[in-house]
Amino acid sequence: MSPTQRAAFITLEGIDGAGKTTHLEAIAAWIAARGYRLVRTREPGGTPLGEKLRALVLTQPMSAGTEALLMFAARHEHVDQVIAPALASGSWVVSDRFSDASVAYQGGGRGLGVERVAMLEDWTHPGLRPDLTLLFDIDPVLAAQRVAQARGERDRFEQEQGEFFTRVRQAYLQRAQAEPARFCVLDAAASVAEVRARIESALAALEARLYRAGPG
Ligand code: TYD
Repeated sequence: MSPTQRAAFITLEGIDGAGKTTHLEAIAAWIAARGYRLVRTREPGGTPLGEKLRALVLTQPMSAGTEALLMFAARHEHVDQVIAPALASGSWVVSDRFSDASVAYQGGGRGLGVERVAMLEDWTHPGLRPDLTLLFDIDPVLAAQRVAQARGERDRFEQEQGEFFTRVRQAYLQRAQAEPARFCVLDAAASVAEVRARIESALAALEARLYRAGPG
């Protein structure tokens, strides 16, 4: 199997404090060890313009609708400039958050409605969906404790209270239920080693799924 045969698009999702960033390194190492080229990226951000929009949405007060549209504006640039070209060239792409975050945070958390936000997905990246979404699922109370222990200033989202993250979590889980083939729901309260083992089996299953079908 050639590393350029077919590329995979993997996203990491979950409420703040779920611990997805802890596992990024191991995911990248797993992919690299199998000889695939990899582009690691994040949202909001991932491009020079996207990083400027990130700074705005994380700090500037704004309406929920504006927030959702800015997330998708950054994403449009990200897909055009980074994600689509990388996948087309045969690189695997791992993105720390993608459109599920908008559906969960803006649709669920901010109350815009998941269907309304999901409509923006088809406009922004028609035909592009992650092959695998790792959802780090955790009780918002435990996640809040983790965020409180972390150093640094809290952004606009991290300052939100329990009910907000309960809604975000529900919206994520609802999506996962609707698309079980794409989502791998991880118990993020488990030990790092246990979560890592589950991630590695999900990656192995993805690799088998993509390459069993042969090239293209
Ligand atoms: P993230 O980079 O995961 O936070 P951190 O750097 O603190 O680990 O994401 C930043 C915040 O942006 C996070 O609270 C979730 C929020 N967000 C949305 O509300 N909608 C979106 O579409 C995306 C991509 C992120």
